[in-house]
Amino acid sequence: MAMKFCIETFGCQMNEHDSEKMAYLLASRGHEQVFDAEEAEVVIVNTCCVRKKAEEKFYSLMGRLKRIKSKKGTILGVTGCIAQLEKEGILNRVPFIDFSLGPSNIGKIETAIKNSIEKGKHFDFSENGGAPIYISIPDRTERDVKAYVSIMKGCNNFCSYCIVPYVRGREVSRRSEDIIKEVRGLAESGVKEVTLLGQNVNSYNKGTSDMGFPELLKAINKIEGIERIRFVTSHPKDLSDALINCFGDLEKLCEHIHLPFQSGSDKILESMNRGYTSEDYRRKIDLLRNRVPHIAITADCIVGFPGEDEQDFEKTMELIRDVEFDGLFSFVYSPRKYTLAWSLEMTVPREEALSRLKVLQDTQKAITLKKNRAMEGSVVQILIEGKSKNGGEEYTGRTRTNKIVNLPGERGMIGNLIDVEILKGYANSLKGRPVYQQMEAIDGKKGEVLPEKNMEVLHAQRNEGCRHHG
Ligand code: SAH
Ligand code: SF4
Ligand code: F3S
Repeated sequence: MAMKFCIETFGCQMNEHDSEKMAYLLASRGHEQVFDAEEAEVVIVNTCCVRKKAEEKFYSLMGRLKRIKSKKGTILGVTGCIAQLEKEGILNRVPFIDFSLGPSNIGKIETAIKNSIEKGKHFDFSENGGAPIYISIPDRTERDVKAYVSIMKGCNNFCSYCIVPYVRGREVSRRSEDIIKEVRGLAESGVKEVTLLGQNVNSYNKGTSDMGFPELLKAINKIEGIERIRFVTSHPKDLSDALINCFGDLEKLCEHIHLPFQSGSDKILESMNRGYTSEDYRRKIDLLRNRVPHIAITADCIVGFPGEDEQDFEKTMELIRDVEFDGLFSFVYSPRKYTLAWSLEMTVPREEALSRLKVLQDTQKAITLKKNRAMEGSVVQILIEGKSKNGGEEYTGRTRTNKIVNLPGERGMIGNLIDVEILKGYANSLKGRPVYQQMEAIDGKKGEVLPEKNMEVLHAQRNEGCRHHG
């Protein structure tokens, strides 16, 4: 029986991609994806527990879904990291759910729905750390410009604050030939940009006879039709020279790296079990910038970790001012049960942590704005992804350095790489115009013809309306 399903997604790109896979699996079995929980017969909530706030958002959403269920009898399922963490114990807080699957079991989503209808509550958390279930999304029904590709799952790093190794299991890499086959398929279906996903891509295939990450990048760089390659995330402790040298060598590898540093204080880095010093981190940044001077560097960092005093925080600020990141995701430390840091005494009062966060974010905002403004007047290549989220008639795309550019355009541009003059830099995006328009304005005639209108419309809506970030 065909059903209408809705997927609500919290958390990182892995979760976004897992939601895509579930949507693909269900749609390929004749079920219809909708984007409003009220309309759905089945609602799947793909969860994140990296910080307490993500968990709280989940439980408050479940309150709303409970009301919908009591009106309409909706089937409710939970997947992702909270599911894996809580297992059957999740029923203590949300006894009304019908099924729950761990991240390794999303391949069985249809069975879980069916079983919960026919036999009652269904749970499956097996195989975490075992054979990965990778699902390629082959024949995409809409024309996607960019796609995620999982290359590995799990994490072996056990940073002391982090729950991920406990919910995603140990590192398991996917075979390179399967990845390459998937990327070829994506290229054939019109995808121009791939983002390779793993918690720590540097250790891809570590300890196996299959190729390492730099070789994988080289192989993907050769695939015809793919124009851009990105990856997340890279751990500073094992960012190798071989990987650094890929920047600048591989023409499709975009000049952007996300390299979380977490703290600028060696004392805190040690207590976080990160395996590098602030000096090591700076050296890696120098190597990257020597290789490609304009490479964009973004990072994650945490304030208020147990033991972080004024001097430690100042070291973090120093690193931020010295490196001048293009963007920074910053968080107040959130203690997570089961992690090594859980037992540490909280030494930074919440108000103090929040005020450190504000100082940090204000500084970074000014740096990002300065960097974005410095781009005004330059011409950069962007890949047009679809309609701008700002609404109106604007279109949006990203530079190779991963900056968002909004510009006037038309549907035929979607999926094209075009040169854009940057008119204005803001804190979170840039405003530009296609170079041909400028020529039109100067010459009074079109200097370049618009890309042909042979592209289908990107259903930017596909994942929208059902996405929540934790
Ligand atoms: N594997 C990636 C991403 C991990 S989660 C990596 O190692 O970079 C994304 C970010 O969330 C982390 O980089 C960290 O900055 C933040 N984070 C993880 N656990 C946290 C916690 N307990 N409290 C606050 N922030 C946390
Ligand atoms: Fe978490 Fe550290 Fe693994 Fe990243 S590398 S997922 S922060 S344990
Ligand atoms: Fe991602 Fe959150 Fe899980 S960050 S791996 S969805 S805990």
